Amino acid sequence: MNPPKPALAVAVQETTPRHLAELAARSPRSGRLHEEARRLTPGGLSHNPRNHAPFPLYFSKGQGARIWDVDGREYIDLWMAHYDAILGHSPPQVIQTVRETMENGLHIGLAIEQEVELARRICDMVPSAERARFCASGTEATMYAVRLARAFTGRNVVIKMVGGWHGANTDLMVDVFPPDYGGPEGRGLPPEIVRATRSVTYNDIEDTARVIREAAGDLAAVIVEPALGAGGMIPAEKKYLEFLHEETRRNGALLIFDEVITGFRFAPGGAQEYHGITPDITTLGKILGGGLPIGAIAGRADILDESSILRKVPKAERVIIGGGTYSCNPLSMAAGIATLDTLKAGRDQIYPTLEANNRRLCEAIRDAFRSRGIPVTITAPSSLHAVHFTREAGQPVRNMADVIDHTDPAKQIELADRLRVHGVFEFHGGALSVSHGDAEIASIIQAMESCADEMAAAG
Ligand SMILES: Cc1ncc(COP(=O)(O)O)c(C=O)c1O
Repeated sequence: MNPPKPALAVAVQETTPRHLAELAARSPRSGRLHEEARRLTPGGLSHNPRNHAPFPLYFSKGQGARIWDVDGREYIDLWMAHYDAILGHSPPQVIQTVRETMENGLHIGLAIEQEVELARRICDMVPSAERARFCASGTEATMYAVRLARAFTGRNVVIKMVGGWHGANTDLMVDVFPPDYGGPEGRGLPPEIVRATRSVTYNDIEDTARVIREAAGDLAAVIVEPALGAGGMIPAEKKYLEFLHEETRRNGALLIFDEVITGFRFAPGGAQEYHGITPDITTLGKILGGGLPIGAIAGRADILDESSILRKVPKAERVIIGGGTYSCNPLSMAAGIATLDTLKAGRDQIYPTLEANNRRLCEAIRDAFRSRGIPVTITAPSSLHAVHFTREAGQPVRNMADVIDHTDPAKQIELADRLRVHGVFEFHGGALSVSHGDAEIASIIQAMESCADEMAAAG
């Protein structure tokens, strides 16, 4: 006899909000998969933010700006594979080159021509990149960047932003998730990282200057995302980035731009090209891999060359970064080359269109909520955006202190939940791709208006 089918992971109760009950009812296959996943994987997921109510939906296909779940529902996607699918899901030119590359073997694990090709493109496109080397994820890239900065300067302290997410890199797992700040992000992290990793308020020159002064002669580097991604798509102000540039120089420290999100999105040369500010080290990932796993560390030759195997120095002077079975795997290299070539060739058309579409979308979202009496502020760096439910319309959201003091994050989650019912998938904000045309933008606006109606009615 077959064992009885387990109950759904999230039993729908009378108190379950109607939109979540509706999502559960129409997603039986996702519900069953998650039930099994919870027995196999802690919490049912290997990537925590992929969780959402009433249970994670499971997806089987992505094409252009659309994704399909295993129960056959279609969504317009704004999450876009962690904001990396700037050419849309499954772009034909990338799929084609990956197919051709696969024919010659999945991974040989030795030097290949494509790694030179992709490194050349990074050095050509990214202003700070005199050298580039690859790894398999953005997390590794930020880990190596910090190690390299400490080694190059001979100093210890690294300053990061409150709310800055650089992957689950132990060195930088301080003051990431709201609302409790002031220490490591939970257990398993050595208390010493708080001494070596200090955090400052994003876009706050005074607070940052104070911590830089405190670190004095032991400051190795400041690491900053040119848009605070997981923190809420908050753009760095140009004057703040200029201040970090000047202050790191004045203090003999290094400036690291974590461009894992902004690289190749703000411009072909990332946020550093967009703002005209060149950091010492840049970390890259996401778009660079064209949909396949990748990370890269790029920057000044004298700094990157510290990690060169050609340096014949005693162990105490070496900087070991690199390794990784899947570093420079042919498929990621090929997908990256095809993606960067497309972005570079289309730069005059792609970037202005993405930004104009994002502006148009954000204006419509703002109107949808404000006209229904719901105050919002929308942050919209480049072709990224996030809706913040503020106390007053237009209240500035410049850092995590503003997010905590002036916004209601529960409403942001509620909006994402309601959007799923209306066929739009977003997750702490959204990213546009070249596949988001007029039809997709009109559908997103319509879904936002429906959500605004519902949220206004719900109070
Ligand atoms: C700014 C930033 N840095 C680093 C990372 C880590 O990259 P990965 O997930 O490829 O390890 C992320 C991932 O979301 C990120 O947003």
